[in-house]
Amino acid sequence: MGQFVVRGGRRLEGTLRVKGSKNAALPIMAASILASDTVILDGVPRLRDIDVMIQVLQALGARVWWEDSQLIIDPRHINQYVVPAELMQQMRASLFVTGPLLARLGRAVAFQPGGCNIGDRPIDLHVNGLTKLGAQSRTQDGQLLLETVGLTGTEVHLSYPSVGATENIMMAAVLARGETRIRNAAMEPEIVDLAQFLETLGATIRGAGTSDVRIEGRETLHGTEYTIIPDRIEAGSFALAAALTGGQVRLENCLVDHLPGLWGRMREVGVEVREVDAETVEIIAPKQYRRMSISLHTNPYPGFATDLQPQFMAFLLKVPGVHLISERVFENRLGHAREFRRMGAQIAADQRVALIYGGHELYGAQVTAMDLRAGAGLILAGLGANGQTIIEGREVIERGYENLAQRLSQLGADVTTL
Ligand code: UD1
Repeated sequence: MGQFVVRGGRRLEGTLRVKGSKNAALPIMAASILASDTVILDGVPRLRDIDVMIQVLQALGARVWWEDSQLIIDPRHINQYVVPAELMQQMRASLFVTGPLLARLGRAVAFQPGGCNIGDRPIDLHVNGLTKLGAQSRTQDGQLLLETVGLTGTEVHLSYPSVGATENIMMAAVLARGETRIRNAAMEPEIVDLAQFLETLGATIRGAGTSDVRIEGRETLHGTEYTIIPDRIEAGSFALAAALTGGQVRLENCLVDHLPGLWGRMREVGVEVREVDAETVEIIAPKQYRRMSISLHTNPYPGFATDLQPQFMAFLLKVPGVHLISERVFENRLGHAREFRRMGAQIAADQRVALIYGGHELYGAQVTAMDLRAGAGLILAGLGANGQTIIEGREVIERGYENLAQRLSQLGADVTTL
């Protein structure tokens, strides 16, 4: 396992261009299976998770290649329906191909997915939704086998607004017979981006971005060229890095409306968040943070993003006062509290709730990134600590951040990789 080495105490300053969204790109790449011709994608970030999805598509028979910054997917010869176990174990999002495969080939075989270690993360909502559309499902030796003689539009009510399940069902439904309605659908911007992509393929989708999504089935979909939205989690991570180092950073290619939960909380703590235009935001930290108590709950969109919770915790470590974070999306996503404590942080946490005693000095230490966003939180804490922090698990962090050490260094941080 590689490492990030962070020497803290430097103020971040300058301009950063946010990359394309990983979590929008992954389902859109999977949705390319549905097209009858080539798909050209702009703005796909160069990340480990994207490489895994490329390998998944290739294993299914697609031709996939980069042409400069564009990712080209030629799905015409897809004829395999088994998602290789080792790819599935590397990334939970491999599951996204099951809906499109069912719609296109009438079959899909997947294994219990892997990915970040943040709780059980069952797949029942995916399977129930696909079954309602007309798939037969069974499990055998850890494999999930899905089969259909034809998908038919129907109403699916999700008991929880799962992002992945909403996306998987949408992708299956675009080639189903008749209309599908997803109730209690997830409302994340990545869902809207997927819907817009599917529309450029010729699909008709109404209500994406609300809890009530309607998809009209089509017989075929054509190819397209499409640009992925900017990564709101990357933008939020850099914004918090700027704030906790007392810095001033301008973020470009940042869709300001996609982070409603974050900006309000940062302003509450005294950070100036200047919306320059719809795609540019400037983060200006105050000279000193006042004593206060912040209480934050993560929730599905438009609530505060769980994927920014560890980074926000790192930020709160710099704000004097007693703060509360409650994690409501995943049942076990506060493991980073223990790693922060190795750096001198005063935090009491169980699996769901953390009490943070902010405003105490942090010291460099050797810590471990258990999951992608926890790793980002540790890098942020390292930026605000005295001395050198070594974060084990570089590969885990690089699943979601492109050239992170280099881009932080361009803003004045001292971050290297080993
Ligand atoms: C997506 C994001 C991830 C983010 C998460 C929540 C991608 C590739 N990943 O993950 O970064 O943290 O949304 O914003 O887009 N659940 C079930 N049964 C299911 C599916 C989910 O119980 O079939 C539960 C999960 O265990 C979890 C909650 O629903 O507690 C949210 O999961 P979900 O919204 O599905 O997240 P992902 O799509 O996996």
